[in-house]
Amino acid sequence: MIKIMTVFGTRPEAIKMAPLIKKLEESREIKSIVCVTAQHRQMLDQVLELFNINPDYDLNIMKDRQSITGITTNVLKGIEEVILKENPDMILVHGDTTTTFAGSLAAFYQKVPVGHVEAGLRSGDKYSPYPEEINRSLTGRIASIHFAPTISNKNNLLEENIAEKDITITGNTVIDALMMAIDKDYKFSEEKLNNIDFDNKKVILLTSHRRENLGQPMINIFNSVKRIIEENKDVEIVFPVHLNPKVRELVKSVLGEVERVHLIEPLDYKPFVNLMSKCDIIMSDSGGIQEEAPSLGKPVIVLRKETERPEAVEAGTVKIVGIEENDVYEAVNTLIKDKNEYDKMANAINPYGDGKASDRIVKGILEYFNKP
Ligand code: UD1
Ligand code: UDP
Repeated sequence: MIKIMTVFGTRPEAIKMAPLIKKLEESREIKSIVCVTAQHRQMLDQVLELFNINPDYDLNIMKDRQSITGITTNVLKGIEEVILKENPDMILVHGDTTTTFAGSLAAFYQKVPVGHVEAGLRSGDKYSPYPEEINRSLTGRIASIHFAPTISNKNNLLEENIAEKDITITGNTVIDALMMAIDKDYKFSEEKLNNIDFDNKKVILLTSHRRENLGQPMINIFNSVKRIIEENKDVEIVFPVHLNPKVRELVKSVLGEVERVHLIEPLDYKPFVNLMSKCDIIMSDSGGIQEEAPSLGKPVIVLRKETERPEAVEAGTVKIVGIEENDVYEAVNTLIKDKNEYDKMANAINPYGDGKASDRIVKGILEYFNKP
């Protein structure tokens, strides 16, 4: 059997690796091992529980207000130990977090081939998103096989002289996960959400966590939210606040006491995506949400200056508005006031795959080991 060790540590990696782990477990040719770094603790555990994944190894590295250097060194050391013990034939990493890069580097040092899931996303700006753009580029240099969600992701890799034979277009596993979690009859167990009148109010879902938005950009965004609330009495804002204490302090200082702004804890994946599907507008700096929203036909106002997800912009569901207070305010206000503009963005188009990305990745791994 081929021993495949999956390594991940944060909420989005867990969500997008979970369907793949299920498929690896089903394969008769593969022995699947799961190693979590726990770069995130609570937000990772929420996902592990939902998808019923019991890691074989848990490095438990999360520290309050951790630094990127701290994450990198702890993951490098921890993964090395596990690799020396398990001797896997390949490690699989996902996307662009510091767990992704440090996990890949640890594998490279032990000459273990790396499979990169969600390969080839690029913004072209070294510092935005930071540190993700460099994490994913360096992981791309290390990886032996690249599972690119879309053709444009593949083209980015070809431009960096990655051999075509090493790239497979798979779609994004986030669609596999979304299909497992969406339920049109879903009832929230959170009382705050059940009390919201989704039929008669305009409900905006807000998330923000990006490192480059900490500080003034987040203050600008939250001030624009205040203006939207003050001027539109029929708007309610739901904001599941990321557990990063730096984010929480900023949120509390600007939005702590604002009526119709519901600050709640991070939601489990199932209630979260079902909230996405019930709300009217999404404001977010998240990567994963830009991929889920087109499937659900929900307009996303992206609180960033760039995106590595041009497919969602082309699909029309996602608009990049930057991080200036007035720009964010204008973009959201237009969607609230102008039905034509809203309808233009609210088309359910899915550029990210058919929910079978995990099957294609398993097939790609078997081919790599000449086991078709
Ligand atoms: C990380 C990733 C980012 C990804 C994001 C998804 C890096 C450098 N950043 O950013 O690419 O988009 O996850 O959410 O890899 N915390 C908790 N409990 C948790 C999670 C976080 O308390 O379950 C707190 C801790 O104090 C921690 C801090 O949040 O130190 C920041 O976590 P960290 O993983 O360093 O950064 P994120 O902003 O979450
Ligand atoms: N998400 C969640 N609960 C929340 C907020 C987000 O389950 O309260 C999910 C969301 O559906 C998406 C993923 O988390 O799949 C995105 O994670 P995040 O925004 O933290 O990271 P990014 O995608 O920006 O790296």
